[in-house]
Amino acid sequence: MTGESWGSHGVGYGRYTGGVSKTFYIETFGCQMNAHDSEKVIGTLEQQGYARVQDEVDAGLILYNTCSIRDKAEQKVFHRLNEYKKLQGEGKRFAVIGCVAQQEGEKIFEKAPYVSLVAGSASYRNLPEMLARLEAGETRITGLDDRQTDETFETEFTARSNPHRGYITIIEGCDKFCAYCVVPYTRGKERSRTAASVLVEARKMADMGFTEIQFLGQNVNSYRDPSGRMSFAELLVAVGEIEGVKRVRFTTSHPRDFTRDIVEAIDATPTLCDHIHLPVQSGSTAVLKAMAREYSREWYLERMSWIHGAKRDISITSDMIVGFPGETDADFEETITLLDAVKYDAVFAFKFSPRPNTPAVGMVDSIPEEVKTERLRILMDRQREIQREHYGRHLNEVQECMVESHNMARMQVVGRSTQNKTVNFVMGAGEVGMPPVGSYVPVRITKTLPNCLVGEALAVGPDAVRYVPVVRQPQFVVLN
Ligand code: 5AD
Ligand code: SF4
Repeated sequence: MTGESWGSHGVGYGRYTGGVSKTFYIETFGCQMNAHDSEKVIGTLEQQGYARVQDEVDAGLILYNTCSIRDKAEQKVFHRLNEYKKLQGEGKRFAVIGCVAQQEGEKIFEKAPYVSLVAGSASYRNLPEMLARLEAGETRITGLDDRQTDETFETEFTARSNPHRGYITIIEGCDKFCAYCVVPYTRGKERSRTAASVLVEARKMADMGFTEIQFLGQNVNSYRDPSGRMSFAELLVAVGEIEGVKRVRFTTSHPRDFTRDIVEAIDATPTLCDHIHLPVQSGSTAVLKAMAREYSREWYLERMSWIHGAKRDISITSDMIVGFPGETDADFEETITLLDAVKYDAVFAFKFSPRPNTPAVGMVDSIPEEVKTERLRILMDRQREIQREHYGRHLNEVQECMVESHNMARMQVVGRSTQNKTVNFVMGAGEVGMPPVGSYVPVRITKTLPNCLVGEALAVGPDAVRYVPVVRQPQFVVLN
């Protein structure tokens, strides 16, 4: 789920058009790209005069932003739509958007006839027109751009859910076609935004008080400025140099396209965060080949040596799949030895699940479920041990943390380090009150755990000026 939309905008609140109440409820699943798409969809709806409600019962339009990455996702969507069925009534409309919408297309109308709109992310730029048709009473509206489109979804109306840290999409779609992955089929072909438009959006966000900017893309490393002005690393640096920007992150990287200048840019630019998420998927060259990842274990380890050789302590995280068709015990062992060689700070590991339309769906899903489960357990156990040991390097360090929330029950502050680690800290002796969400606080690390750090805010004294978050007006980034 995305967080709360903040502020109220637009005109014609609660207006009724063609029997449809202009109120909406949105439910979001999936990756950060989906979360950010929802922020753009929410902004577009609000700009079109719709008001967001927090209870689906009160909504004229219910939107379901779906993910299809793993685990029979489409079945879950149809199950959820079945629950929506009982909400049916005069003036209620249902829309299925996102990756399952693109994947299942008009089949959704057959299985859930009360759905009126089915749209994949590559057609969101047509949302105002689709909404107008919905209001006119149409009940079979589709936005199912496949890999034909060259357009990106840029909107001046993005209802960002967090007022301090915001996403910017720099590249949409994917041309990699890894054998297991639905994304090239659900999000269309790769298309980059111009560096100029990314910079305009970043500057506006900085003016509004955002201090952290997160670049998003399925594969940010294959970013190509259509105007040819800037490489990905140059764009990172340019955003990092905007006044007011304190942190820049980016996700997701792909080893095939990952270049050394990204590490050099992090070394040279203090605002670029000390964290690279570089999914490897497997430590075995044979499995990587079957996955069509277009790199070998050695290729990946060379990129790791660039990062390990950096001046800064750059945290490395990864995604891994166990039980890909044909993965032998020896292949799996190579994944385990890779964990030891790289020393990741976090690993997101998944059991292979065959997805519709992908090449791997035609391969025999040869690894029994219990073997996949066992491999996943071994991997996570080993990784936990590595983290238990490796996080120890932070003991006694002073880390600047962005305050995310307060745990009043424990009188603790929850912050995030530049390496994207959670830091739970207490205030130093003589400090009164808690620093506001969005502020940055220097914290001495007093204890390390496998998944987070514990610390105490440095006592800076009553006269010290801490960074205080700006309260922004207006709420929308206006691109021009
Ligand atoms: N089965 C299992 N895991 C998958 N991922 C993507 N597709 C599949 C699949 N079919 C994982 C990859 C990717 C992460 C987002 O999800 O590790 O990096
Ligand atoms: Fe899910 Fe992939 Fe779509 Fe993101 S791009 S929502 S992870 S299927």
